[in-house]
Amino acid sequence: MQFGDLRGWIAHLEKEGELLAIDKEVDWDVELGTVTRKAISGGKSPGLLFKNIKDYKSGLCTQLFTGSMANYSHIAMMFGLPRDATITELVKVAREKFKQRIPPVVVDTGPVKENILKGDDIDLFKFPVPRWNRKDGGRYINTFQGTITKDPDSGRLNVGMYRGMIGKKDSLPSLLSRAQNWGQDFAKYAERGEEMPVACVIGWEPTLPFMACTPLPPNVSEYDVMGAIRGAPVELVKCETVPLLVPASAEIVIEGWISADPKTFEMEGPFGEYTGYYAGDQGPKHSIRVTAITHRNNPILVGAIEGTLPSMMTENSIMSSIQRAAIAWNVLDAAGVPGITDVHCPAANNGTTIMVQMRTRYRGQPKQAAMALWGSSSAHVRYKHVWVVDEDIDIHDYEALDWAFAWRVNAAEGDILMVPGTFGAILDPSTRLKYRDPLTFGTGKWCRVLIDATVNMDFEPEEQYGGERYPPSVMPEKKDWDDVTRRWKEYGFKD
Ligand SMILES: Cc1cc2nc3c(=O)[nH]c(=O)nc-3n(C[C@H](O)[C@H](O)[C@H](O)COP(=O)(O)O)c2cc1C
Repeated sequence: MQFGDLRGWIAHLEKEGELLAIDKEVDWDVELGTVTRKAISGGKSPGLLFKNIKDYKSGLCTQLFTGSMANYSHIAMMFGLPRDATITELVKVAREKFKQRIPPVVVDTGPVKENILKGDDIDLFKFPVPRWNRKDGGRYINTFQGTITKDPDSGRLNVGMYRGMIGKKDSLPSLLSRAQNWGQDFAKYAERGEEMPVACVIGWEPTLPFMACTPLPPNVSEYDVMGAIRGAPVELVKCETVPLLVPASAEIVIEGWISADPKTFEMEGPFGEYTGYYAGDQGPKHSIRVTAITHRNNPILVGAIEGTLPSMMTENSIMSSIQRAAIAWNVLDAAGVPGITDVHCPAANNGTTIMVQMRTRYRGQPKQAAMALWGSSSAHVRYKHVWVVDEDIDIHDYEALDWAFAWRVNAAEGDILMVPGTFGAILDPSTRLKYRDPLTFGTGKWCRVLIDATVNMDFEPEEQYGGERYPPSVMPEKKDWDDVTRRWKEYGFKD
């Protein structure tokens, strides 16, 4: 589906009854974040357009949009699917789209050039950037953007979502992990003794934030996949002060440079993070030195609250449950792991735990699946815990998983595999703080675990089990069940 820009997407949501415009005054300081968290926690929220923000009733920017992807029906609309598409249907469509490419085209100009600010005119505080949570270390403007970087060798443009806080009026200290795609680009510039050019794009069609936090392989440009999802090339324009390209109809673009010189680092954090904790300390971080801001007239700022808790979902948890399952399924396919019948990342854990359903044909197939996932770049901040189950276990049903865990897992038979000392999420509080310092290590430190809850193919078929490896289940035979169902009321039952 093509929506043209953020405004087209908001208009589409409104037409579908999926937009709430909030005219009551809301304070950017904690209140806006709290309203957002309460509204979207159930996973059924409309998009929220805040139109009356304290201290920002007039001026450069007066509106903030959030909740764009906080509802599975919005993701279905982005893909042009019926609004009630199931999670597995969304994952299957995402899988196909992630394999397709429609490269962007470059155009001369576009609405994002309506205003060009440089030098003293740059002031990030002119945007109604929330302090999303009371304990946040500052005001986070980069929470739902696409950060553009370029591989200096191949020229590939990466679009990633990385948190960024307003430091000074023209600086954005950011969490830069060397294992993420922009971190890999950054390492190449640093080796050459050069600063890295960056452009943060805020507000465009929904494919921008959706793909910005999808872990595509480092050699693929998210722009190409955004084109594939919308069925038409993304139109890009040149930036003013950095050699990068950004969507011509974006709301706001922040251009700048990041240096490897520790003297340029600024204090950043903590931030209410996707783990549900203020994980990530306050410390010196790489900072974007802002050299230009371009924006449309009356630009709409876009942001998202982070931090998932049980029964308290966020946009990241909803979006990532689709992307991360789809990427993982493609990784398993590319690695040649056979028999995969479903893959699911439950929303609550943001891709940290993944469930794989498979038809096992040979011994060791679940371990093959886990190893393939862990060896992939997409596993950097994901797939810490991998469950593999047989085809009869519904991976969307935690009770079914729990039952399989009880009776098909025997640690003494090798059903639990642990791989310590792998790369992992910097923000996971179950790793001691000193072992996940991004400046020292570039990544976190995970012990990855496979829970192989499939019937153990290492067992011999048993005669007393009718030649199977496991005893028969108590599930009645269909004929017996149907006969009793037919006579049900005769026994005196009402239903
Ligand atoms: C709201 C939000 C904020 C994020 N912030 C960061 C961040 O600060 N640093 C980071 O490494 N990843 C962050 N992520 C996760 C990345 O977006 C994700 O890993 C994505 O795949 C990165 O793009 P890349 O694969 O092109 O590097 C964030 C995700 C979301 C949804």
